Amino acid sequence: MASQKGKAPLEAIETASRDEISALQLKRLKWSIRHTYDNVAPYREKCKKKGVHPDDLKRLSDLSKFPFMVKTDLRDHYPFGLFAVPREQVARLHASSGTTGKSIVVGYTWRDLDHWANLVARSIRAAGGRAGDMVHVAYGYGMFTGGLGAHYGAERLGCTVVPMSGGQTEKQVTQIVDFRPDIIMVTPSYSLVIAEEFERRGIAPRDISLRVGIFGAEPWGEGMRGEIERKLGIDAVDIYGLTEVMGPGVASECVETKDGPVIWEDHFYPEIINPETGEVLPDGELGELVFTSLTKEAFPVIRYRTRDLTRLLPPTARSFRRMGKITGRSDDMLIIRGVNVFPSQIEELILRDARLSGNYQLIITRDGHLDNLEVRCELQREATASLSSSDQARVGTGLAERVKTLVGVTAKVTVLPVDSLPRTEVGKAKRVFDERPKQV
Ligand code: DLL
Repeated sequence: MASQKGKAPLEAIETASRDEISALQLKRLKWSIRHTYDNVAPYREKCKKKGVHPDDLKRLSDLSKFPFMVKTDLRDHYPFGLFAVPREQVARLHASSGTTGKSIVVGYTWRDLDHWANLVARSIRAAGGRAGDMVHVAYGYGMFTGGLGAHYGAERLGCTVVPMSGGQTEKQVTQIVDFRPDIIMVTPSYSLVIAEEFERRGIAPRDISLRVGIFGAEPWGEGMRGEIERKLGIDAVDIYGLTEVMGPGVASECVETKDGPVIWEDHFYPEIINPETGEVLPDGELGELVFTSLTKEAFPVIRYRTRDLTRLLPPTARSFRRMGKITGRSDDMLIIRGVNVFPSQIEELILRDARLSGNYQLIITRDGHLDNLEVRCELQREATASLSSSDQARVGTGLAERVKTLVGVTAKVTVLPVDSLPRTEVGKAKRVFDERPKQV
């Protein structure tokens, strides 16, 4: 592994005392709750229903009296109904998968974008990046927050940014060979596809210019960290985030400890709850991660349920708490090749085709480093009898195209005759078969 450059100075808050952090959090939390209550009517209604008011927040622990926000709130108020500023003050929009058809939309003021860039810059610095480094961004650009989030953070730190986006593996590798970047920001699974292309060209890890990789957007474990580090000859660190809360850079790992992403607690207040009861759990216990934004103007979130299962860990390299690896989700969202997929989105597309029955299965496997999705669906009885085999194949290609354009993921669609898939007689139908090896 290439040696690290000299230490960059940290921001004062990164090494502040717990009292200083709590005081800042309380001040910001009071502002954020008041701002949301005053400007987001659906949230105000929720508070009234629960009998709470921003004045009830006297200390940080009072937050537990306030109602949660959930993904379906975004769907119910699509597209801009939860924005806390007039649309004219929104400088940028991003979007992510909703549970069905429409995506969920979030917005940022200029000040929000400024904070976001600072936090991603802080994350890159924590990973060992410095002004003057070259950063190859292979997260997707567009409505996904990965590409642009990484991009502006790297620029803010003073890096040279290569806005490559995802895909075109051969071109990615040629550019890394020719430009000699120091840092790569990409999903962990795609980094291994890039590593394979290096292998194919006979380029040894020590001859690859990269020094650090900053990986996130999907779950990955220590086994994968070891493999990536070995194959690319880099330090691999974990960056976490989600569209609703900001995008990448809600939390990020320090290269000197590699012990879980540090939550940038001066901007996001974390809680862990029991997903069944909503009760707040003590640090260290496994539960669902909940975030409250402390500075966001356009799209503030109060007690947003991420559905990610993890635990809060004590501070180490910084004064902020860390989060453990994501061990799963408390909903049925799948992440397939870095794309968030809800089974209900695919079900909706199947049901839209009158020739298909509503009986289907989703099978997710891993082939090498990449995920594969197979959609097995069944023709209606009448269609089984009347359609020629080429017409039946066309039903499949049509569905695959719609899944690609509307859900954003490539799927192999298998169309079967009626009665091919098992019927569930008792309880819920089992539709999702996630056969990928578990990350450890
Ligand atoms: O994935 C934002 C992001 C982009 C994070 C680039 C890191 C790097 P969404 O598309 O809204 O946003 O997906 C958010 O992805 O709730 C987690 O389930 C999962 N996720 C994100 N980062 C990690 C990570 C972006 N480091 C959802 N480890 C989250 C495990 C992650 N899961």
